[in-house]
Amino acid sequence: MTAFGSVRRKEDARLIRGQGRFVDDMELPGMLHGAVLRSPYAHAEVVSIDATAALQHPKVHAVLTASELGDMAWMPTLSADTQAVLAGDRVLFQGQEVAFVVADDRYSARDALELIEVEYEPLPVVTDARAALLDDATPVRDAGNHVFDWEAGDPDATARVFANAEVVVEQDMVFPRSHPAPMETCGAIASFDRVEGKLTLWCTTQAPHAHRTMYALITGLPEHRIRVVSPDVGGGFGNKVPVYPGYVCAIAASMQLGVPVKWVEDRSENLMSTGFARDYAMRGRIAASADGRIRGIAVDVIADHGAFNATAQPTRYPAGFFSVFTGSYDVEAAHCRVTGAFTNKAPGGVAYACSFRIAEAVYLVERLVDCLARELGVDPVALRLQNLIRADQFPYASKTGWVYDSGDYEAALIEALRIADYDALRAEQAEKRARGELMGIGLSFFTEAVGAGPRKHMDMLGLAMNDGAAIRMSPTGTAQVAISVQSQGQGHETTFAQIVAHELGLEVDDVEVLHGDTDNTPYGLGTYGSRSTPVSGAATAIAARKVRDRARLVAAAMLEVAPEDLVWREGRWSVAGDPSVGATIPEIARAARGTLDLPPGVETGLDAEAVYDPPNLTFPFGAYVCVVDIDPGTAVVKVRRFIAVDDCGVRINPAIVEGQIHGGLTDGIGMALMETIAFDEDGNCLAGSLMDYLIPTAVEVPDWETGMTVTPSPHHPIGAKGIGESATVGSPPAIVNAICDALGVAHVDMPCTPSRVWEAMQ
Ligand code: CDP
Repeated sequence: MTAFGSVRRKEDARLIRGQGRFVDDMELPGMLHGAVLRSPYAHAEVVSIDATAALQHPKVHAVLTASELGDMAWMPTLSADTQAVLAGDRVLFQGQEVAFVVADDRYSARDALELIEVEYEPLPVVTDARAALLDDATPVRDAGNHVFDWEAGDPDATARVFANAEVVVEQDMVFPRSHPAPMETCGAIASFDRVEGKLTLWCTTQAPHAHRTMYALITGLPEHRIRVVSPDVGGGFGNKVPVYPGYVCAIAASMQLGVPVKWVEDRSENLMSTGFARDYAMRGRIAASADGRIRGIAVDVIADHGAFNATAQPTRYPAGFFSVFTGSYDVEAAHCRVTGAFTNKAPGGVAYACSFRIAEAVYLVERLVDCLARELGVDPVALRLQNLIRADQFPYASKTGWVYDSGDYEAALIEALRIADYDALRAEQAEKRARGELMGIGLSFFTEAVGAGPRKHMDMLGLAMNDGAAIRMSPTGTAQVAISVQSQGQGHETTFAQIVAHELGLEVDDVEVLHGDTDNTPYGLGTYGSRSTPVSGAATAIAARKVRDRARLVAAAMLEVAPEDLVWREGRWSVAGDPSVGATIPEIARAARGTLDLPPGVETGLDAEAVYDPPNLTFPFGAYVCVVDIDPGTAVVKVRRFIAVDDCGVRINPAIVEGQIHGGLTDGIGMALMETIAFDEDGNCLAGSLMDYLIPTAVEVPDWETGMTVTPSPHHPIGAKGIGESATVGSPPAIVNAICDALGVAHVDMPCTPSRVWEAMQ
């Protein structure tokens, strides 16, 4: 008996009727509205701020500047830096927060922003991370522009492999600054109750507990006097992990005024000032033998972190998990060096649908493999099949220190080629080429690393990246499971109920999922990096198994047999020799709360909790094939077919998994063809609206063709691996590989806009 399968999403009953409850839907009695004044300059001294006229506006209640914030003027980031909540004497990027107006309504607050007089003295600007690291570069921060140097792998072994390799190919590539662009922008309502001394923050966050800890550090309030509630969230993709200055200003204003204060940013503010992703300039080298054996990979990266190091990343990995850059290949040696730089751009570098820099790593290695195939004159499929880690090599210890848990890469690739009918595609391409048409076929094979993470390997701000689940069984046999992770549309209310139902033989509808409220859920670090299922999902299964184990003792008392005589089959405990005698969990739950004499040491009820410290990450993988047609007259790229074979271990809800893949593939089209947050030389952000920052619509995407293989994770209680970000990670290189294949060129940088493709065609 299993509750896994494509059951309908419970949350859709309200979401598709427009009855979701998002932060901006909420109105509290006496609530005021905040608006942020932002710097028009990318770098300038703030000479003076005069809020006199704004304060005279009849609907304005307060104007906060850095001096009014006192101890709350600076806040810790999730990367061991500190960030100005409101700029005091210097602004470091266009859009940086300078003042916060509180008024009766949103419109008056916005009007009053124009009444604040700020005198700026512009300073030289640096927006290119490579330029920022030169000796004579303008310092963005007092201590200079260097954020960190970080290495993984073995430099000496790698140098040796490269010195005696028969073929070495080098390619520079940029993964441009892109933005998660969730449908709902960021926002919060802070409500400080002066009588109770308790702060409640309704916030669009992906990580309510981590936020609560941060607010305790920022405000000095005891953490248990803070409640963070994340109601329905309209997409996060990493953008809603960080704490933003607007939240802190809303808190400060509510504490000062004693009434609730709402702050919700607009689209331009979201694009210009909140956590972006990528912005990696990479030089990759790949070494091989003449017969195509990949021997080594070496990478140098310059990572642009903007004006503050505000990336949400495990502390011991300043470059995230970029160290999985050897991808899915069995190499002799590998080494990467990542240098982080401050620039006069918005801070961030969030885990945008990519578990901490894995999108960059996968892009790099999959482009390098195609460059190598081109150099050797071999088919990229054959080169991959020759070098993929073999099924019998798992668990596989990578040359950069990770142990990939399980995989059968060849099976996934062969399945993708079967769906694509690869040989027929190549034949079609040859015919079209002869007629002068531009058709390209691109492959990618990716390995993801998700489920951060094991406390022995990683932490965030010194906090173990472990998550929990708590199950309460009612006497009538229904269950509530409270989880520490927070859905932004991924369907947790359904899939986490399925896990409990699966483990306890319950109906999915008899399990309710509680999440997004720090007052009634266990502590945990939240949802990003596809970690919910690998971490909190595991905790949920383990908590359910604790319920089941206790139920066995109660059932033994009910049935007057020894616990060892009971077996769990078809969703109930029954006597080993006589399946007709047994009890279901609802029957046992009732007895456990009833008057039955419980065995010694067995507590009343069946409630149970678990916190999960994963022994390892999970390593989902996939094989993608992309077919593009390029218009020779306009250089417009059309993705005609896209075949995605994903393996995320056991699928709890295949329909939800499929939805996650469709979304991620669409993201990939955006990044490969359209999306970039660009800046001019004065640091003006050129992508401040969705007219400039192009995201894909139904017009740009093909009918996705998906397939799957299932290789369970050996250490996850239900064998599941994360899936949330796989397609975002795997698809950009397949698309760019297809474009390069069509044009017969080594490389085109993303986004492959018509002008870039046209240039490459010349
Ligand atoms: O952390 P996040 O929820 O973004 O990512 P995830 O853990 O990969 O899960 C995304 C959605 O897919 C959730 O509803 C999962 O429970 C579901 N899922 C699944 O049904 N089976 C899997 N093997 C992995 C995820």
